[in-house]
Amino acid sequence: MQNVLITGGAGFIGSNFIRHVLENEPEVSVINLDALTYAGSLENLKNLPAPDRYQFVHGSITDRNLVEMLLRENEIDTIIHFAAETHVDRSIHGPAEFVDTNVVGTFVLLESARTIWLDKMGRALDDLRFHHISTDEVFGSLEPDDPPFSETTPYAPNSPYAASKAASDHLVRSYGHTYGLPYSITNCSNNYGPYQFPEKLIPLMISNAINGLPLPIYGDGNQIRDWLYIEDHCQAIRDVIRRGSPGETYIVGGDLQPTNIEVVKTLCEILDECLPGSNHLPHESLIEYVTDRPGHDRRYAMDISKINRELDWKPSHSLSSGLLKTVEWYLENQDWVAAISAQGDYQDWIKTNYQARGGSK
Ligand code: NAD
Ligand code: TYD
Repeated sequence: MQNVLITGGAGFIGSNFIRHVLENEPEVSVINLDALTYAGSLENLKNLPAPDRYQFVHGSITDRNLVEMLLRENEIDTIIHFAAETHVDRSIHGPAEFVDTNVVGTFVLLESARTIWLDKMGRALDDLRFHHISTDEVFGSLEPDDPPFSETTPYAPNSPYAASKAASDHLVRSYGHTYGLPYSITNCSNNYGPYQFPEKLIPLMISNAINGLPLPIYGDGNQIRDWLYIEDHCQAIRDVIRRGSPGETYIVGGDLQPTNIEVVKTLCEILDECLPGSNHLPHESLIEYVTDRPGHDRRYAMDISKINRELDWKPSHSLSSGLLKTVEWYLENQDWVAAISAQGDYQDWIKTNYQARGGSK
């Protein structure tokens, strides 16, 4: 890993990863290709640790000429593919973009890597890696007594988002099997931490609570997710690229599975302590149960034994330590929240998603 192309590096996980890699890998140069959709922002990339080793390119992963040019002219040896449409609720309202970016975009990246790396430049395979960032949602939903997801769990995606990510995983694997492309895949659980776009559960709840707005819980709130603090995910990706064998897939998760309502109540308690003078105490009184998400997956859980055994990786944050860091970051970065929330269609999206759910606002 020396000349790295990161896709989607202006989003939540990609921007955290760029910071992480520039801080921890002094020999690595990064090119960040991002289309700056509603979810991507250059606000996430201010004050990077080593700006001389970082370059931003505004463009889409579906633009094959651009991708091939970037691979060729920058002697890219590692592609780390984060770019995607990522919000399940948006995929229910408008799935087309999920197919364009997540399926077609991944296909274009793979074709570009095949053409430039394998056909034209005949690069030594040991020097190359196509790392694909995927999700636990490709496995569908678990019953209460089912074992957690592992690397051998059959795919059963339920939302258009999950289906588009599953399709992209299959394409990546097929390019390894058919053309010998050296790839790896991480299927990760729900991330949280700094720079997460405010439409997702944890930043949405923090922002609404600070502003005294309702905290909308879908259905009964007893859905279960595995939660991973962003910094732990960045470390896992780096470990897999550095030390994981090509052709391998790894499950990555926080190894903790609270219900959604437990997550929101913990956030409220942390906010009560951080904001003792708030007019909205206790923040828990803002909780409102609203109409559920159609096809809502009930339970995710992760078996992280493979990455732990092979690469000695395990999460270093508990839910309370990760949530505390996250709340503190959002409180200290209210200007960022305001700038991001004013971007694109965010306010329209909030109306589209929440007005029909029957909350009080
Ligand atoms: P995000 O929505 O915050 O950011 C996505 C980024 O991709 C944005 O910067 C956007 O501008 C960019 N993008 C979208 N379409 C593009 C295109 N056609 N060309 C170039 N750039 C484009 O997403 P995130 O939460 O940072 O997720 C990153 C990756 O991690 C995704 O592949 C997602 O499926 C996966 N993942 C996310 C989570 C999570 O909890 N957030 C969990 C597991 C896996
Ligand atoms: P989300 O952050 O959208 O991630 P994902 O759907 O990819 O897991 O949602 C996390 C969980 O929180 C999910 O079960 C849906 C639920 N949720 C709410 O209850 N209310 C909300 O306003 C949002 C955005 C999510």
